Amino acid sequence: MGILDAIKRWRLTQQGLSSGKKRRVYCENALIQALENSLWVKLALFMSFTVSCALMVLNSAPTSTFAADPLRGALYGFIISVTAVVMFQVSLQNTCHRNSRVVLVFGVLVCHLLLVQLAMALVAAGHIQDELQFFFIPFALAPILLGVLLGRAVGAFSAVFVTLIGCLFAPRPETINYMILSLISGVVSVLLAHEVRKRLQLLKAGIYIGATTLLLGILLGRLDIASCFGTDPVQHLELLATGSAAAFGTAVITALLISGLLPAFEGIFHLTTDISWLELSDLNHKLLRRMQLEAPGTFHHSLVVASLAEAAAEKIGANAQMCRVCSYFHDVGKLAKPGYFIENKLDGEENPHDGLTPTMSALIIISHVKDGVDLSVKHKLNPRIINVIQEHHGDSIVMFFYRKAREQKKNDLEKVDRRLENPEDLPMVDEKNFRYPGPRPSTRESGIIALADAVESASRTLKKPTPAKIRTLVDDIVLARIQDGQLDQCPLTLRELGAVRECFAVTLRSMLHSRINYPKEEDAPSSVARRAASDRDSSQGGRVIPMPKRA
Ligand SMILES: [Fe+2]
Ligand SMILES: [Fe+2]
Repeated sequence: MGILDAIKRWRLTQQGLSSGKKRRVYCENALIQALENSLWVKLALFMSFTVSCALMVLNSAPTSTFAADPLRGALYGFIISVTAVVMFQVSLQNTCHRNSRVVLVFGVLVCHLLLVQLAMALVAAGHIQDELQFFFIPFALAPILLGVLLGRAVGAFSAVFVTLIGCLFAPRPETINYMILSLISGVVSVLLAHEVRKRLQLLKAGIYIGATTLLLGILLGRLDIASCFGTDPVQHLELLATGSAAAFGTAVITALLISGLLPAFEGIFHLTTDISWLELSDLNHKLLRRMQLEAPGTFHHSLVVASLAEAAAEKIGANAQMCRVCSYFHDVGKLAKPGYFIENKLDGEENPHDGLTPTMSALIIISHVKDGVDLSVKHKLNPRIINVIQEHHGDSIVMFFYRKAREQKKNDLEKVDRRLENPEDLPMVDEKNFRYPGPRPSTRESGIIALADAVESASRTLKKPTPAKIRTLVDDIVLARIQDGQLDQCPLTLRELGAVRECFAVTLRSMLHSRINYPKEEDAPSSVARRAASDRDSSQGGRVIPMPKRA
């Protein structure tokens, strides 16, 4: 098929009907996708985790709780790890449905437990003093890493299970102390790792976790401050200093290690943290700089969409940083033919669509989605940005040119009636040719950006905007999108859509503030809304449509 396609393309190029170039498309490798969704792979991963936990307890240090009866310890390790798997499957299924996430979560848990086991082995071998044994354990490793990468719920899950399984390695009289230290340090780590947007925040988290571990160590009697004032204070002060340095050092090194490893984890597991979204929001990206110069209208439109989408996402608890960055890039495909989009047309400039048939105009407008994917694949943009570019119009219709085509057909049919035109020469007007290829928005963020895009485009057509007109405009657009089925695959609930509408109206009102004509006091809100609707209807010839030419 590939060779036949190439020959076909070559022949078209020879005839001057094709540029010979092929658009890049974004698709995941079929084998990787099969492995990601395979139930057998998932079962194998769960099995490996439970067996690893049992083996770790079986080989734990001679001072550990189950050193005298390792088989019993291994059985306990197996039972707790099976509980972890069941909890994971029941409560974290939505976050971790892909097998790569299972590898990440359970891989990090095993690494954390191996480090705990190593610390215990060093204590048993006499390389670390008994009093300092807990200050060398990186309690924050799994909770911070998983909290930053996959969210608070997964971070809390890891904090609980590294504590429960780790208790099996701890020396018998210290089991409760270990449990308290590990659990509290883990929970503090998860709380501090929430919405980390700068790497410096991770370093601060490390210092706070170090302080927490040290304080708990003192409270649990691992370090005795009172002894520093008794006999042999130098030795006790030395122990206190070593303990403090170990607690802070371990926590800070853990935080720095996580900060350094995050980009690698994000790349391997196709994840994007808030830190990366913030770094990606830099407007100096090559494509955005090109947009500023070659398509300034589109660039301004993207900035407004970003503000609308970010505010709405924040209101409903969606990923606001992601919405901002994806909005910047959503119309990057317009760079291929910027002059064909109305926002880039200067006053008095000739409209390039005047010399084109409506079908050809729609084809050019629609192509900005595929051109956007091509450009973003070429510039190696984040896959989630590419998804938003693909989905931001769903399979909606380019209404302006569809209506124009139907009107032209109506006029041509009148000519046929007057025998001025041959009916066989009339072009077909098929709705399919005026629809975007889709897919429809599949995430909350994608849905919000699609709505913000339509609302921003339509808001420019508002003559003499008033708060009531803005509200009606937003409501009509959201309703039109719902009725067209564009949000059918998007997990936004009706309650969230209500909050998004409210937020769009407020943000637009503040953006258009200088243009707003506030109604006089005697104007009832209902009459204002009616007038706003009639104004817009008269200007757009019917119901509100997402600005067609802007696309
Ligand atoms: Fe677009
Ligand atoms: Fe747009």
